[in-house]
Amino acid sequence: MDDRPTDGTRDQNSADVVELTGRLLCADLTEASTVRQHLPEHIALTRAEPGCFRFEVEPTEDPLVWTVVEQFVDRAAFDAHQARVRTSRWLEATAGIARDYVISTRDSLDEVSAVAPSPMLRRLRASDAPAVHAAFGSADDMARQGDVTTLAEAERYVARLLAEDSPHEPWAIAEGEELIGLIAVTVDEENLSGWFWYWVTHRARGRGLTARAAATVAQWALTERGLERLELGHRVNNPASGAVARAAGFAKEGTERGKFLIDGQRFDVDTYGRLRTDPAPAFDSLPLRAGE
Ligand SMILES: CC(C)(COP(=O)(O)OP(=O)(O)OC[C@H]1O[C@@H](n2cnc3c(N)ncnc32)[C@H](O)[C@@H]1OP(=O)(O)O)[C@@H](O)C(=O)NCCC(=O)NCCS
Repeated sequence: MDDRPTDGTRDQNSADVVELTGRLLCADLTEASTVRQHLPEHIALTRAEPGCFRFEVEPTEDPLVWTVVEQFVDRAAFDAHQARVRTSRWLEATAGIARDYVISTRDSLDEVSAVAPSPMLRRLRASDAPAVHAAFGSADDMARQGDVTTLAEAERYVARLLAEDSPHEPWAIAEGEELIGLIAVTVDEENLSGWFWYWVTHRARGRGLTARAAATVAQWALTERGLERLELGHRVNNPASGAVARAAGFAKEGTERGKFLIDGQRFDVDTYGRLRTDPAPAFDSLPLRAGE
């Protein structure tokens, strides 16, 4: 959004969390249709910003009005968001639409987290494509997770995972309705085994969320889903991935030397496995909602 306040701005300490609340007020159904058309991309791109903690734009009973709640980790993150939006397709399309916003600050993220939606796991959906697109654009290391540089490619990526004959069983890590990461098992039915893989959008990293989500899905795969072995591999220069694997109960099984050639350099890959009979790790599970 163009987040210029109409009133209520007060002096803000740069270390404080910045919160914007208010309403987006369309004059007619044409403006409302423009909002509906551009909002998914705007939400996905904003949530992928490293300093965005919360970004909710919700329809109301009035078809011309949306409520808006935004929280950024500090003033610099909020200003960076404003700067991005100034040249965005969203603002180009909606600049003429009225906003009624108030910007305030809070002392800490602890206070904010009390009102943020709790993370959970749910099935991937076709409507997650804009969030997938944003996640792939959020960090350079996403390039090796698949070819997704446009929304159309994100739609194809999601469609492939959801295809009826797909061996992939993808779980979205979601906050509220929004996908922020993916944990997937690519199933080999013949051997009752699964290749385990994961990625998370940049802003959601470093919170221990992937470790919890991976442990939850691994537990599901080896119990309810009936698999007997899970396996994965990560490049040795991706230690966070190995830490996620260990947190999810995987044991290191070996190293494939010089497996990948990337930018002229060969990289070793560490391989991990977890058997149904291995001891389950202690972990703080996420709710896993198969029906959602
Ligand atoms: C790998 C990835 C999923 C990690 O996600 P994350 O949300 O930051 O992970 P978590 O916050 O759950 O942290 C899990 C562990 O990794 C550790 N970790 C995180 N970043 C790290 C880093 N740069 N170096 C070393 N360890 C790191 C954490 O300390 C934590 O370990 P702990 O439980 O022992 O404290 C994420 O960086 C990502 O999506 N990368 C791109 C895709 C990718 O590489 N996927 C894996 C392909 S094999």
